Amino acid sequence: MNFNKLGTNFEWPKGMPDIRNLQKLGQLYQLGEAGANEIGTKLENLDSEFQVNYDHNPIHHIEERMKDVQSLAEKMNRKGYDLTIDNIKNHIFDVAGIRVITNYIDDVYLIKKLLLSQSDVTLIKCKDYIKNPKPSGYRSLHVVVSVPVFQSNGSHDVNVEIQIRTVGMDMWASLEHKLRYKTDIDDKLVAQYGNDLHGYAEELSGIETKMQKIYKKLNNYEV
Ligand code: GTP
Ligand code: MG
Repeated sequence: MNFNKLGTNFEWPKGMPDIRNLQKLGQLYQLGEAGANEIGTKLENLDSEFQVNYDHNPIHHIEERMKDVQSLAEKMNRKGYDLTIDNIKNHIFDVAGIRVITNYIDDVYLIKKLLLSQSDVTLIKCKDYIKNPKPSGYRSLHVVVSVPVFQSNGSHDVNVEIQIRTVGMDMWASLEHKLRYKTDIDDKLVAQYGNDLHGYAEELSGIETKMQKIYKKLNNYEV
């Protein structure tokens, strides 16, 4: 629906949420999704080029998601921002998100390097929870980039959050996420499982490093 058609004399009823913002939110989401698609295509192209030139697939698989509107609203609230389109644009970097699951740890940094070396991809921020894991044990490389999306009225720079992690880190994060949102088991068990998982994160990291060494020796492969 085109809310511009309401005409210049139209007055929005007082106390009613201004649903014209919904149109703007829809445009923001469409732009975000287009940005994620641009990055997704770049990642797929990088992976297939590596397959052809180096007989190696850095990427195991890719997941794309748009933040659901309720968690967007909750995040804005948590951060103390009014729910306006400008605030979303200026303060929320993960409306469009891509998760890249790599085969090995070095592939995480390879993907980051190759993506950022592209002339139309700009680094906005980067947090390395592999070098500095979270207290929970969570490991992942979080990169926010800006990429141009070409629309009928010109080019728009769109932020996309990319979480890059290995298969092991991803398996760990899925299980730990489940534990975090479980409300029907008692606190003692949650604490114990959390503690166990912290240890497993270390162990997984050690195993993935050792497996990468074997892989490299077998393939005589260095990047
Ligand atoms: P925001 O602006 O709130 O995103 O802050 P931030 O970017 O500093 O958040 P952070 O870097 O902590 O990343 C948030 C995302 O990372 C979450 O949505 C999760 O997907 C993931 N994440 C962060 N910490 C953990 C953790 O301890 N366990 C799990 N399972 N996932 C985590
Ligand atoms: Mg974030």
